[in-house]
Amino acid sequence: MNILLIGSGGREHALALKLVASPLCDKLYALPGNPGIGEIAENIGGISITDGEGILRFSREKEIGLVVVGSELPLTEGVADVLAAGGVKVFGPSKAAAELEGSKVFAKKIMSKYRIPTAHCEVFNDASRARVYVRQMGAPIVVKADGLAAGKGVVVARTVDEALAAVDSMLEEKTFGEAGARVVMEEFLEGEEASVLAFTDGETVKAMIPSQDHKCIFDGDKGPNTGGMGTYAPAPVVTPEVMERVRQEILEPLIAGMKQEGKPYKGCLYAGLMITKKGPKVIEFNCRFGDPETQVVLPLLDSDLVEVMLACVDGKLAETPVKWSADAAVCVVMAAKGYPGSYAKGDAITGLAEAKAIGCNICEAGTALKDGVKVTNGGRVLGVVGRAGDIKSAAAKAYEGVERISFKDAYYRRDIAHRALERLEQ
Ligand code: AMP
Ligand code: GLY
Repeated sequence: MNILLIGSGGREHALALKLVASPLCDKLYALPGNPGIGEIAENIGGISITDGEGILRFSREKEIGLVVVGSELPLTEGVADVLAAGGVKVFGPSKAAAELEGSKVFAKKIMSKYRIPTAHCEVFNDASRARVYVRQMGAPIVVKADGLAAGKGVVVARTVDEALAAVDSMLEEKTFGEAGARVVMEEFLEGEEASVLAFTDGETVKAMIPSQDHKCIFDGDKGPNTGGMGTYAPAPVVTPEVMERVRQEILEPLIAGMKQEGKPYKGCLYAGLMITKKGPKVIEFNCRFGDPETQVVLPLLDSDLVEVMLACVDGKLAETPVKWSADAAVCVVMAAKGYPGSYAKGDAITGLAEAKAIGCNICEAGTALKDGVKVTNGGRVLGVVGRAGDIKSAAAKAYEGVERISFKDAYYRRDIAHRALERLEQ
């Protein structure tokens, strides 16, 4: 069958690699894709990723058997609903179900109703009441814009002043517009973070291998937050016992709850977790695959991704086996100097073929083609993925790949997977 993938980041490149590896995939199209994806798929321009009708027309014209939505915006805008109503199979939740990511207030209400462990919270749309609450609770405290804010709507305030400044910025200065018209004030959770992605058909939920992201720009988890500087899987902090709790206390009640609400959730559910002393608690839900988690999770999937996705769409996940490799994978993100602030673009990238030749996957995120030469075109330029029998060897492999790639002032963290390595050495 022909498949259409929506998105243009490293996550979509990782999805594309796995989709074209399926014997069920005749031809892959990507909207809009990127130069790396363009090497294994046909990139499509001229249609916005949120234009459901346009995507439906294209899907009919090209006889697309499955649309895979990578990023959240088309989902929260209802692209999956338009496609499903038009008779096109789509992997990704409806607009109503994607509210789990689209509105933190909605996610918190669902978690409270179905008793899913998460941080205590209060919701405010009035700045003066929010300020009183901050003074009452003290710091640390977490201030979150309700809606989508391109990953920038969360402030983990270490002091009361920082929290008050975040309240002012969101509720008074309207920095995030409508997305910040309501704020969620949350208890600060202590522990180690992990991501658990899961396949679900709305009834059955099957967790993927747990992974861990590295959000800070500098080694030792210092400096400002980024979109993610690297990942590894499996994450040993999610022991089999913790995973069982994630399944029983979080994934299953959530999927059952969404069904009961009349908003069945189908697709990939992303649970951002804090593994606290009292067990796993939800930091956030996302309605899509994680980036850069997908880059390390999907290579470990032994089953056919297209078959599993079709089972999610068709409500047949219970009888579809989802098998995982016992290997480990590590992704190191190479960024342009200055990221997450301002950075240069247009620098030539070399060594990609050499890194691939030693067995690394390259997932491009911010690249462009200029006169036939691949150049940098974003903050996070690409991810180098190493796979091996254990985390240490997988990290060594990824860094071997990184050493073969160069562009002007390339920056990357040198300690990806450090938590896993410390834990495994204990
Ligand atoms: P989010 O966009 O909700 O994933 O939040 C961004 C980051 O803020 C998370 O990855 C955590 O590191 C941190 N964070 C969010 N909520 C909390 C919380 N309640 N306690 C501690 N850290 C948090
Ligand atoms: N890795 C964080 C995210 O995908 O939201």
